[in-house]
Amino acid sequence: MRLTASELLRQPRDREDGNGHVGRRVGVFGAGYAGLVTAACLAEMGHTVVAAEKDAEAVARLSAGEPTIHEPGLRELLAANLEAGRLKFTTRAEDAVGASDIVFVCVGTPPRSDGRADLCQVEEVARTIAPLLDGYKLIVEKSTVPARTARWIEWTIRRLAGSEREFDVASNPEFLREGSAVRDFLEPDRIVIGADSARARSLLLELYKASVDCPIVLTSVTTAEFIKQAANAFLASKISFINVVSDLCDALDVDVTTVARAIGLDPRIGRHFLKAGLGFGGSCLPKDLSALINVAEDHGVDVGMLREVERINNARIERLLAKIERALWVLQHKVIAVLGVTFKPDTDDIRGAPSLTVVPWLRAAGADLRIFDPAGMPKLKALFPADDRLTYAATPLEAVRDANALVVLTDWDEFRLLDLKLVRSLMRTPIIVDGRNLFTPAEIQAAGFEYYSLGHGDVTPSAERQGTRI
Ligand code: UGA
Repeated sequence: MRLTASELLRQPRDREDGNGHVGRRVGVFGAGYAGLVTAACLAEMGHTVVAAEKDAEAVARLSAGEPTIHEPGLRELLAANLEAGRLKFTTRAEDAVGASDIVFVCVGTPPRSDGRADLCQVEEVARTIAPLLDGYKLIVEKSTVPARTARWIEWTIRRLAGSEREFDVASNPEFLREGSAVRDFLEPDRIVIGADSARARSLLLELYKASVDCPIVLTSVTTAEFIKQAANAFLASKISFINVVSDLCDALDVDVTTVARAIGLDPRIGRHFLKAGLGFGGSCLPKDLSALINVAEDHGVDVGMLREVERINNARIERLLAKIERALWVLQHKVIAVLGVTFKPDTDDIRGAPSLTVVPWLRAAGADLRIFDPAGMPKLKALFPADDRLTYAATPLEAVRDANALVVLTDWDEFRLLDLKLVRSLMRTPIIVDGRNLFTPAEIQAAGFEYYSLGHGDVTPSAERQGTRI
């Protein structure tokens, strides 16, 4: 049974090995999602961690125990480990390198316009570390990078540091999901250690040995890099598969949730990642899939299947927009409540979120928007400030008041728990367009809504609708 982040935090953690040795000295470059969670969790495991981050404001906030991202359990980890003196944040790279035996590279690898991973920040870390090497260091890639990036890191450092400096470059990819990253780190399904020297391998094994009880895959550096990309490409494929199935379900008037549950009971298929809807967003799956396709093409490998996974995903939003038009016909001056702006629940991250396409499209079509999200609104507001046709609501109920339709873009539990009868009483017309198949057609019908979904079958106008205010 997997524990929640807060249950995990209450578990006693083994901070010493059998010889009373308290952890290793670790440096972390980058305090974004992966870097911050890695730093906080390694400190929680008993290691002494110095995290270097260029953004001075982020360093000040984190040093004061204030998380810069919304991630369950992170605030508690920061507080405990800052207090214990095991975790420090700095803008000075030399402090992170000087205070460590193992240096994790956790900087961003955003997509370039051609779909390849932008490795500028990784290269910059390599150049920064090179003159600071003052004895053997193990440099570990954690950022998701194309296979063979470690070799470039090694060559870059070797060129700048000279042949006498001792170091290794290893790969230890993260499999953290936003929203459950702390739990994923402290209670992993597996740990992949890609190391080409015995010294690097044993250092990484020692780093994790005190705290985790899960399969450990020991492999070469390039294999470890590739495992991460292949894992994300498979997850993306699973989602696009169920989304194709959901379109068929729509056509056959069959419920995709029941189909997904039944096929997922076969352990060869597995029940996870079979939620149909708006498809995969975020900063990882779309980017990693695209980067993998590019690497494959460089090597002349036919990855038409993965291109199709990408194409199916890109078409999800158009399908939702078509449903909104089908539900409302003319959008000009229609009031639309948009629930959910983040790419998935339990995060404030809007990177790659459907809201980034849906909100401007609805505005261009002339609709008036009332938006609510439990965590992502400040980030969306920075891109789309409030005006007389776009407001940010304090609660979901405020957003739906007098709305002509409610559009769900993110599957937050808070939305699933809404009192649908109350929602209906507040709305001008009882129409839900559900991009995440959050509600069941039965409960929707019982509450008297018209319902448009991506794989649940639509519940279209009936006599019950007569008398509603249009
Ligand atoms: C993903 C992977 O799941 C992690 O294992 C990996 O470590 C991480 O990328 C990374 O490369 O760093 P994440 O992007 O946080 O994690 O989010 P996921 O939970 O994978 O969800 C990605 C997208 O797929 C979301 O938009 C979500 O709504 C969508 N999704 C997920 C579905 O549409 N259906 C599903 O069944 C599951």
